Amino acid sequence: MQQASATHIKTWIDGMNQYNATPEFGTTRIVFTKPELENRKYVKEEFQKLNMEVTEDAVGNIYATLKGEDSSLAPVWTGSHIDTVPNAGKFDGMAGVVCGMEAVRLIQECHLPHKRDITVVVYTSEEPTRYKMSCIGSRAMSGDLILEGTKQICDLDGRSLYDKLQELNYDLTQFDAIKKQPGDVYAAVELHIEQNNQLEKAGLPIGIVKRICAPSNYVVEVTGVQSHAGGTSMEERKDAYAAACEMALELEKIVKAHKSDFNTATIGSVRVVPDAMNVIPGKCIFTVDIRDCDMENKQIVIQAFKEAFSGIAKRRGVELAIEEKNNDLPLTCNPSILKMLEESCEELKTAYMPIISGPYHDSLFVGRFAPTAMLFVPSKNGISHSPEEWTDYEQIAKGADVLLHTICRLANCMQPLN
Ligand code: GLV
Ligand code: MN
Ligand code: MN
Repeated sequence: MQQASATHIKTWIDGMNQYNATPEFGTTRIVFTKPELENRKYVKEEFQKLNMEVTEDAVGNIYATLKGEDSSLAPVWTGSHIDTVPNAGKFDGMAGVVCGMEAVRLIQECHLPHKRDITVVVYTSEEPTRYKMSCIGSRAMSGDLILEGTKQICDLDGRSLYDKLQELNYDLTQFDAIKKQPGDVYAAVELHIEQNNQLEKAGLPIGIVKRICAPSNYVVEVTGVQSHAGGTSMEERKDAYAAACEMALELEKIVKAHKSDFNTATIGSVRVVPDAMNVIPGKCIFTVDIRDCDMENKQIVIQAFKEAFSGIAKRRGVELAIEEKNNDLPLTCNPSILKMLEESCEELKTAYMPIISGPYHDSLFVGRFAPTAMLFVPSKNGISHSPEEWTDYEQIAKGADVLLHTICRLANCMQPLN
């Protein structure tokens, strides 16, 4: 069989990267901004050039389908996302979409038989950059985000996702139809860059993802007393920022004390009010992102951080409000698909290792209604969500080959996947 082409992959990655709000410093393509909308158009045109039928649902998920011999069978899905965090790289998400395209190109060029339809899905807003909610498209597919919910989530300008979808002429009367039922999709496989350095350290080209950590996200608001930085003694002041700092360090201690196979806690966004050099902050608003591949352990960490924050607030005489944004379930990938991924690697004489994904992916939500698995290709120095993010095109092509072999197995398989 012909192999995946690094040149084609590079052409598509660069094609998408034309649509970028910060060409001078990495890639910024935030959902439903001009570059993202232009990139959607580009991707749809590329799918059409591959003879795929392209549709879009009411939240902007794009489905590009290559018909199989029997379209009455449930399809095989692959794909990922094309939105980015600010000043990102050009591979996180895009690698998975492009490898889906390359697999479809090869299936046609090599006339590879496939009974099932093969659909490359581009999920809307995997990144939470605009709406402070991750995996918007796949969340809606899983039923976790309903139409009413789109009215509650807003961007920095205070405009809701609902309003934006309406402005873009998405048919919101069809929102309920986004939701998928078990059986609608036979199997889903997502390729992604690793975003860690385990593959690089091991000198291996492929990671087969056994489990995906899920995030729990909170917005914490600490309210102290805004006052004069020189006028208020150290004993008298109620500094919201100092309290938040103590909370941050306590969170770090808690997560380290409750280790699972993989878990993390991050405070990634902090805002002080009024944000002036000679004013004691009256408010500090920050986010908490807790990840774990073990839901039980995550619940223990969440309980512990809430109690610890509350104790710190009490001792320092500040007010505390913790708002939960989401508390998502980790995913164990489907063993039958994992086995097929391993068999594909063996067939291609490509070495691999098992891996746990700390980052979340749309697969987390797809896994709620379909047998799902993922494979990773290496990230240089383990860096991602940064302009420094890099994977060689030849390494991505190796992943595309494994993806292609696995998709073909799945598209001709008639057994239930356990
Ligand atoms: C996805 O980008 C994540 O934050 O894991
Ligand atoms: Mn990302
Ligand atoms: Mn991603």
